[in-house]
Amino acid sequence: MICSYRELGEHELTGILRNDVASFLQKHQCPKTAEHVLKVGEEARRIAVLYGADPTAAEYAGYLHDISAVFPNHVRIQVAREIGVEVLPEEEQFPMIIHQKISAYMAEDLFKITEPEILNAVGCHTTLRSKATLLDKVLFVADKMEWDQTGIPPYLEEITEQLQTSLDHAAFEYIQYLWNRRELLKVVHPWLRDAYDELRDSLNHNLGNPK
Ligand SMILES: [Fe+2]
Ligand SMILES: [Fe+2]
Repeated sequence: MICSYRELGEHELTGILRNDVASFLQKHQCPKTAEHVLKVGEEARRIAVLYGADPTAAEYAGYLHDISAVFPNHVRIQVAREIGVEVLPEEEQFPMIIHQKISAYMAEDLFKITEPEILNAVGCHTTLRSKATLLDKVLFVADKMEWDQTGIPPYLEEITEQLQTSLDHAAFEYIQYLWNRRELLKVVHPWLRDAYDELRDSLNHNLGNPK
């Protein structure tokens, strides 16, 4: 088990990101995550095409979003500090949610991704954020539709339906699903709260002012 960032070492790159990410995750005993990220990459490309985002950037963000799965939950806070990633109190309480920021760091450091749009989308794929970009939302929705647990996500039908209206509707559908269960969540991440408020206001606004 890997307990620190240092222990990761270099990963040899072929230049074909899909293969590089899969071999990295397999090397570190995360074959399920490898399967998940490849599917999310494909789903993100599909949604990007639907909504005019950059399909390749979306696909890459999908491949990279969960690469920090190589670090088990209990070392994530320590790893975040080691690489200089800011740790919020909510993340300290519930370290699962810091994996988005660690993945973004690794995408740049190990996989040599330099496009800020891709790194930012990876960095907020669990919580979304205030002023989320098109690519942020594409990855957020793709990840929720291709979830990494067994069975079918309980909200899949609703998101799929909302996606026919707009990407914001689909993203909001999932955030609302979480929001309605916020008492059961260990913590509510401040970025999720911001995204909820913003999307709710903008969707309400559009409802009142049909174009
Ligand atoms: Fe994730
Ligand atoms: Fe994921």
